[in-house]
Amino acid sequence: MKVREIVKKYKGKRENLLQILHEIQDLDAQNYISQENIFILSEIMNIPVSDITGTASFYSMFSFQPRGKYIIRVCASPPCHIMGAETIFEAISKELKINKGETTSDGLFTLEETSCLGICAVAPAIMINDTVYGYLTAERIKEIIAQIREEEGK
Ligand code: FES
Repeated sequence: MKVREIVKKYKGKRENLLQILHEIQDLDAQNYISQENIFILSEIMNIPVSDITGTASFYSMFSFQPRGKYIIRVCASPPCHIMGAETIFEAISKELKINKGETTSDGLFTLEETSCLGICAVAPAIMINDTVYGYLTAERIKEIIAQIREEEGK
């Protein structure tokens, strides 16, 4: 689906801008909103580029930089922090050899921090794309990453 079709699906309404931006981001295999697509969206919806980038940059789930196929978001809010989020972050960072905001050289993973994922009862928690994982340990992290790599044949 192209940008024009996405806008059409939402009837070109400005109040649907966030959903439109989500779908545009999902369009790209590198999980980001390209400058080109922002210009196209601006023209179709008659919204200034600065308004679109201003709106998108307010939300951490949007990126203007190419990212990995799998976005790993580690919850850094207090309940997860207390339950060892830092250890989980380090385990992922060590396993993937990347730091916050970086993408693995094979383009598979990007590591990010996020605020509460709404599943504090199973802290520490992470989210990989649309899937949430709780009760995490460094060991479990290795298993999850190994499973994704296996599915991807890497
Ligand atoms: S604080 Fe981590 S899920 Fe709520």
